Amino acid sequence: MRDDAALWDLLLGPTDLDLGAVAGSMSSSFAADGSLILVVDHAATALVVGAADPPGGTAEPALRIPLGYGVTGLVAQNGRSVRLDSDSPRNAAHRQLMSLAAGQSVARMCVPARGLSGQVVAVVSVHRGLPHPFAEAELQRAQRLVDVLGLRLHAHQLRQATHGHRSERDRLIAHAISVQEAQRRRVAGDLHDGVTQALVSLSFHLAAAEVSLTGSPEPASSTTEAQLQIASARQLAALAYDETRAAISGLHSLILDDLGLVAALESLTHAVPQLDIEFRAAPDERLAEVPDHCAAVLYRVAQEAINNMVKHAETPRGVLSIRRVGDLVVLEATDDGVGFDVRSVLAGSTSSAPAEHFGLSSMAERCALIGATLRIDSVHGRGSAVIVELPLSADR
Ligand SMILES: Nc1ncnc2c1ncn2[C@@H]1O[C@H](COP(=O)(O)OP(=O)(O)OP(=O)(O)O)[C@@H](O)[C@H]1O
Ligand SMILES: [Mg+2]
Repeated sequence: MRDDAALWDLLLGPTDLDLGAVAGSMSSSFAADGSLILVVDHAATALVVGAADPPGGTAEPALRIPLGYGVTGLVAQNGRSVRLDSDSPRNAAHRQLMSLAAGQSVARMCVPARGLSGQVVAVVSVHRGLPHPFAEAELQRAQRLVDVLGLRLHAHQLRQATHGHRSERDRLIAHAISVQEAQRRRVAGDLHDGVTQALVSLSFHLAAAEVSLTGSPEPASSTTEAQLQIASARQLAALAYDETRAAISGLHSLILDDLGLVAALESLTHAVPQLDIEFRAAPDERLAEVPDHCAAVLYRVAQEAINNMVKHAETPRGVLSIRRVGDLVVLEATDDGVGFDVRSVLAGSTSSAPAEHFGLSSMAERCALIGATLRIDSVHGRGSAVIVELPLSADR
């Protein structure tokens, strides 16, 4: 038996798996003319070249063997290794990678590499010139090496997939936080411009009333003056109260907590007297299955869709509806207003100044966080529709 120490070092060593070096080492360990490591692609439909010895240049990306097709594709599909005393693959890129002249045949062995749960993740194909067939003992030795290669390849793929998920999750969270920050800034602005200004004026009028009551030599006129100041102060107190309530309802819905999603959605349609919004909700106790955090998202999306109708649609009418379609909860907010170019608005909101128009992107982020799909349809002159579909599967 040959010494496979170099191969084991490559397969078990602490450094990243170097497939090119493994292919080269397989060739020399089996006194072969060449080796191919063919990896099952992401869609699990075909084998593509992971590494070739000798390197195949442009033939490497050109080779794609559907699972179940030809000798190698069959090994990938049924997971059984094969030895062929004489073989001549038909695929031109495959032949080029094996440096085969026209009509030339070679001895081959094709060995499946399995992942953690036994699925084939790659096939290692080793070949040498006739008449030097591979012995059964060589096939078994190759299988032992390739078993370890399969586990390392699979571990590497899992690490890459985890990395991909993590980046996507980080991106989503970062965007969600920036949207939240923008909302906080807006609330801070509302409180500053509305409530604090009203409170400053309120204390001014109260101070003036106090001066009128205590400092004037003529009691009759000072009382009238004080009454006027107090009336102004009361108006400002009412204004500050309204402003504060408006700012709070922008942050959190008490109706949603107290009466549930359907009542909270209906209350939104009454909160905008300038629009006549029809509310449709089929009586369906299955709507009560919507988890609280998803209900909060549906409520916020409906609220923003109605805000947009008021601000942009230029129509007196709209419709808000919620219904259950199988395992989906479907929320729709539609208007027959001026419409807009959804694609260019969304493209703009991700680039230059997201804080200026963050309503639609905030809807999209909220929906993505709860696994709901968001569709925004709009046609110039015909109106707009915001449609959310929330799957309510058992494993949510
Ligand atoms: N129902 C609608 N009818 C017509 N145009 C709309 C409608 N909804 C959105 N738009 C257009 O899409 C743009 C982006 O909407 P978005 O809600 O993201 O931002 P905004 O409403 O301008 O600002 P924000 O929501 O951040 O206060 C709007 O400026 C408007 O041009
Ligand atoms: Mg908006």
